[in-house]
Amino acid sequence: MKKPIIYISRQIPAELLHPYKDRYQFRMWDKEAVPVPRDVLLKEVQDADGLICLLSEKVDESLLKVAPNLRVIANLAVGYDNINLEATKKEGVVVTNTPDVLTETTADLGFALLMASARRIIEANHYIKTNQWENWAPFLLAGSDIHHKTIGIVGMGRIGEAIARRATGFGMKILYHNRSRKVNAEEVLGAKYVSIDELLRQSDFVVSVVPLNEETEQLFNEEAFQKMKNSSIFINISRGGVVDESALIKALKANQISGAGLDVFAEEPIDREHPLMKLSNVVCLPHIGSASMETRRKMIELCLENADGVLQGTGPITPI
Ligand code: DGY
Repeated sequence: MKKPIIYISRQIPAELLHPYKDRYQFRMWDKEAVPVPRDVLLKEVQDADGLICLLSEKVDESLLKVAPNLRVIANLAVGYDNINLEATKKEGVVVTNTPDVLTETTADLGFALLMASARRIIEANHYIKTNQWENWAPFLLAGSDIHHKTIGIVGMGRIGEAIARRATGFGMKILYHNRSRKVNAEEVLGAKYVSIDELLRQSDFVVSVVPLNEETEQLFNEEAFQKMKNSSIFINISRGGVVDESALIKALKANQISGAGLDVFAEEPIDREHPLMKLSNVVCLPHIGSASMETRRKMIELCLENADGVLQGTGPITPI
């Protein structure tokens, strides 16, 4: 009998496919760091039963139209704003993501970005390596404290809670805003639910962990930055689309806020000539929230288990 075909849109370690070798015919784009061109993807999915893809692959009607056998799309990310869920539902294609396995790793990165921004770690590293360090000075590269400050978490999902857990270790006051109240975060972590306006006004660190959707698109706009303290730092580890980047640049240049730490951008990869790249009070990372060796392997394994579950009829582990 013909084995079902699973197309994988990026090169992944071959040994992770071994447990499934007898069951599927795997085809894979042969580059790890370069996305599959759209025309190749559209050709490859034509006879595929399963697709394992990344955020860089737009899954829309035009893809589904050419892939009549497709039964499962396993997205290698917890976010799924690259996928048109209405279209997949209409076609009866199951979509899965990779929650849980990346929660702690992404929260680590969020906190690292917060700390790097507050304590000017990247600037300091550049300073010493470019031979600028001549003297100790009282305010040399002085940043702002983290401990006992107020963190405002926008989007108290799994990652938001994991960031809050880290914040408790720093004695921080934790505010959060979310669609629904989070009893665990309030009772166990002492987080306080506030309106978005109150959060913006009171927080020393505003951390965006919200998914990108119609409600959150450009949530952080000119008005939002105006509400924030002049001393506050904006951290974004969710999606670039939740920020009006022109408003952010304006706020940073006008010292309306004091800095930003960004792992995500409206356009990725961001152009190196982009104004955000030129600001010394902005720490930029190339969307590496979940990028630890351990977690990326777990994410790939979960995608394979999800695809296998759907194609074998036992059901996916983490359907959307
Ligand atoms: C996610 O999982 O959504 C990340 O942003 C990509 O790793």
